[in-house]
Amino acid sequence: MFAALPKAAFSILAGSSMLKSLASTYGMRSSSSFARRFIAGENVEEAIAAARDVERQGLLVTLDLLGESVASADEAFAATKGYIAVIDAIQASGVGRNVSLKLTQLGLDIDQATCIDNLRRILDVAKAGDFFVRIDMENSPYTDRTLDTFETLWNIGYHNVGVVIQSYLKRSMDDIRRVNALGARVRLVKGAYREPAAVAYQQKADVDRAFVDQMQVLLTDGTYPAIATHDPAMIDATTAFAAQKNIAKDRYEFQMLYGIRRDLQTSLSAAGHPFRVYVPFGTEWFPYFMRRLGERPANVGFIVGSLLKEK
Ligand code: FDA
Repeated sequence: MFAALPKAAFSILAGSSMLKSLASTYGMRSSSSFARRFIAGENVEEAIAAARDVERQGLLVTLDLLGESVASADEAFAATKGYIAVIDAIQASGVGRNVSLKLTQLGLDIDQATCIDNLRRILDVAKAGDFFVRIDMENSPYTDRTLDTFETLWNIGYHNVGVVIQSYLKRSMDDIRRVNALGARVRLVKGAYREPAAVAYQQKADVDRAFVDQMQVLLTDGTYPAIATHDPAMIDATTAFAAQKNIAKDRYEFQMLYGIRRDLQTSLSAAGHPFRVYVPFGTEWFPYFMRRLGERPANVGFIVGSLLKEK
């Protein structure tokens, strides 16, 4: 029944304050609550504990303090300070020094200069601690501003930073060439937002074809690209292309999201592929969580079952 729900339905539901309040009450309440399947916890201690579990299985991590679309410069500054505290906590804990963040969390909606200042604050602390910082890609109104912000910082010497390119956007091959030319690192994903046909492929077959084309350019001309997908067909296409071109396994990495296809995560790592798990955490988990439901509506059945048990 839930499998029939379109991705658009989840975008609409993501805006529902009633659903958000219900989810906030029950989603993370106990260790078995439904949102914990995808979210490592609401605070950095829980995220670090989850990261340790992931690393015990021989996998790498990137930690993401969830948050997006802040509306004021004060909130953006608070998020920046939050990230710096997370970097300090990761450093003290000894787990992998790699974080992911979103620019609307740092004030991109307010103005680009505010966002650049905040990102610089984070990159300075990250650089001193030898961290890598990945800028996640949000929906298409932000693509240009995200790439421009990234490139501005790259060009003034911040090279501990990389970006994400979404294969569903028709522009992405050009963006990949632009980032490859800098020598910077790309994480390739299919794309998680609902986008209009004018800018994005709508059919899975077209998105997949673009993903394979872009993966090949990244493996050939890119700098340590991350191939981030749970799709076995994309993974097979990557390993087959790498074998055909004699590209060593340590010249790229696979990435997946926390809680999704754990079987594939460990089998790829056991086969000698560097493998990173994206570990999201924080109190602002609802939009991220709704995007995960939108990708696989069958997940809703599991959530409803857990909710009934919780109540
Ligand atoms: P696809 O959606 O075709 O799914 C293939 C198979 O994977 C499914 O059949 C199912 O088995 C499994 N699967 C996929 N999603 C699942 C889910 N939610 N629950 C259970 N099973 C699932 N997007 C973005 O726009 N900006 C970004 O910055 C990022 N960052 C990012 C980082 C990392 C590490 C990953 C893995 C993904 C992202 N994404 C992202 C999300 C990405 O764009 C995409 O929406 C998801 O990865 C789902 O696409 P797949 O490539 O997995 O393929």
